[in-house]
Amino acid sequence: MLICVPGVLTKDDVADFRRVMDAAEWEDGRSTAGAQSALVKKNEQLPPDSEVARALGNRIISALTANPRFISAAIPLQIFPPLFNRYVASDGHHFGVHVDNAVRGDRLTGLRIRTDLSVTLFLSEPEDYDGGELVVEDNYGSHEIKLPAGDLVLYPASSLHLVTPVTRGTRVASFFWLQSMVRDDHARSLIFDLDTAIQNLVERLGRDDPETVKLTGIYHNLIRYWAEI
Ligand code: NI
Repeated sequence: MLICVPGVLTKDDVADFRRVMDAAEWEDGRSTAGAQSALVKKNEQLPPDSEVARALGNRIISALTANPRFISAAIPLQIFPPLFNRYVASDGHHFGVHVDNAVRGDRLTGLRIRTDLSVTLFLSEPEDYDGGELVVEDNYGSHEIKLPAGDLVLYPASSLHLVTPVTRGTRVASFFWLQSMVRDDHARSLIFDLDTAIQNLVERLGRDDPETVKLTGIYHNLIRYWAEI
C-alpha cells in the first residue's frame, strides 16, 4: 500500500533545508547503492555521514515522531538516518528500476534494520522541475508520485521502483527506510484502515462511546498480536 503524508515539514522548514543543502558538498549517489542498483543509479547525494546530513536527518525524525498519520501508517520500530539526494536535469539524472536492499546498516551508529518501508520526502515543489516522478510498481500496477515539498510517501520496500529522468530543473528529496513493528504489509494496512476509521468515529461520537472503546481495544489487540519488538 502507498500512503502519502502531507505537511511533514512546513514550507519554512523546507526553505531552511534547501538553504543548508544548496551550500553543502554533494557526492555521487552510487556510494550507498547495492550492486544491481548502482548500475541504474545516476544522481547525487549528501555524504551520508556528513554533519549536514545527520543534522537535517534528525530534524526529519523529530517531525515524523510528532506526526500521527505517519506513526499510524508505519508503526515504526527503527527509522534509518535519512539520506538526501538530488537529480539535476542538465546532468541527465535518473534512477532506473530497482529494489532496495533488504537490510541496511548505518556505519556511524551500528544500527541495522530490515527495510519494510521506503520513504521519499519531497524537498522541491512539483512546478520547479519536469520528470523526476517516483514510479512504484505493485499488484495494482504502476503508480507515479510527485508531491508538494514537505510531503512524503511511504511504500513497501519490497516493490520495484524508479525515478524518471529529470528534464528541467532540480529534484531534491530525502529518502530513507524503516523497520516496522508490523512486518507484513497487509496486516499493517488493516491496522491503518482500522485506526483511520476509529479516528473518524471519535470525531463523530466522542472518545467514550462504548463501541468506539471496543474498536480501540481491537486495534491495540491486533498490534499486540502482530507486533515484533
Ligand atoms: Ni530505491
